[in-house]
Amino acid sequence: YRSIRVALLGAGSVGSQVARLLIEQGDELANRIGARLELVGIAVRDVDAPRDADLPRELFTTDAESLIIGADIVIELMGGIEPARTLVLQAIASGADVVTGNKALLATHGPELFAAAEQVGAQLSYEAAVGGAIPIIRPLRDSLAGDRIDRILGIVNGTTNFILDRMDTTGASLEDALATATELGYAEADPTADIGGYDAAQKAAILASLAFHTSVPVDAVHREGITGVTAAQVESAKRAGYVVKLLAICERLTDAETGVEGVSARVYPAMVHRSHPLAAVHGANNAVFVEAAAAGPLMFYGAGAGGVQTASAVLGDLVAIARRHVLGGPGTAESIHAALPVLDIGRITTRY
Ligand code: NDP
Ligand code: HSE
Repeated sequence: YRSIRVALLGAGSVGSQVARLLIEQGDELANRIGARLELVGIAVRDVDAPRDADLPRELFTTDAESLIIGADIVIELMGGIEPARTLVLQAIASGADVVTGNKALLATHGPELFAAAEQVGAQLSYEAAVGGAIPIIRPLRDSLAGDRIDRILGIVNGTTNFILDRMDTTGASLEDALATATELGYAEADPTADIGGYDAAQKAAILASLAFHTSVPVDAVHREGITGVTAAQVESAKRAGYVVKLLAICERLTDAETGVEGVSARVYPAMVHRSHPLAAVHGANNAVFVEAAAAGPLMFYGAGAGGVQTASAVLGDLVAIARRHVLGGPGTAESIHAALPVLDIGRITTRY
């Protein structure tokens, strides 16, 4: 197999798992793609920092700019705006395709980055940016591109869903539930982006832009976090048959005053009736409920955060891009390079 050179920027929760899986599953991925994904280096701040995975020391560098040069695909998992923005632009300018999970970057500089990619015909993929492991970007961008999406209701922040779920099921205060979320590693040391609704607003901007084929800047997303939610409110919602969820709501609307048709994106704690599928999203899980004119209601559900879970979405983007490198197109089920054999193991009785 020929090699496709992959440069990784960041080896934190997600990046270290991406690197591990790339190395451990190298042969299987090569068979699936028809080319070998060669991890040429990993850029970090501190090459000696402990990692979540055991990775070859010689791959690490602090020189991200040099690492990008000559890479076919650059994976950006550093987070934040700078230097991520500059490095992604440099990668695109040097002819690489880019995979990122950086919702903060996309929600604030998406149009600039997509224009740069379009100008040179580069791919910029970001399945991991919303909903962690849940496939939602490509379903919105591709599978539902022929439909008309009217509304999206999303639970897109795992930390706040964990906190609200804990308040609902145990009667805990927000402070106690947040302390548990921190103990379990769901909430960051500084949980402001999560409980303040900023993370969910970034994801809402990305979802609304995709669903409505427009550009929704994060500043245009109405945002309220969960800091004002009390145990008493959660309890009285419960007695009325509702559960409090931090929702990202993206919809087509007609302004009642001006009659202008447009889109609205907003994030706030909302009462969800217990009969709605979103009420059953527990713990740090995420779900995106899509109302499409022809398809009807669809729900995408799963792990919204976590290093290895999110690595799945990153690798999916990587394989899709690598297949294009090999085939000159997206690839099909027929473009199989080394298929697994079909086993003859007779009749099995299975209960699901
Ligand atoms: P971490 O903070 O765990 O890791 C960030 C990594 O980037 C670290 O390895 C760090 O290096 C490196 N890094 C940061 N700044 C620089 C810099 N200036 N130069 C070189 N290296 C740098 O982040 P996560 O893995 O949690 O997240 C990565 C991205 O994925 C973010 O955009 C996040 O929003 C997104 N994401 C994360 C999810 C999750 O569950 N964690 C879920 C979905 C998306 P060092 O280790 O040396 O400090
Ligand atoms: N802090 C985010 C969350 C990580 O809790 O959902 C995944 O984007």
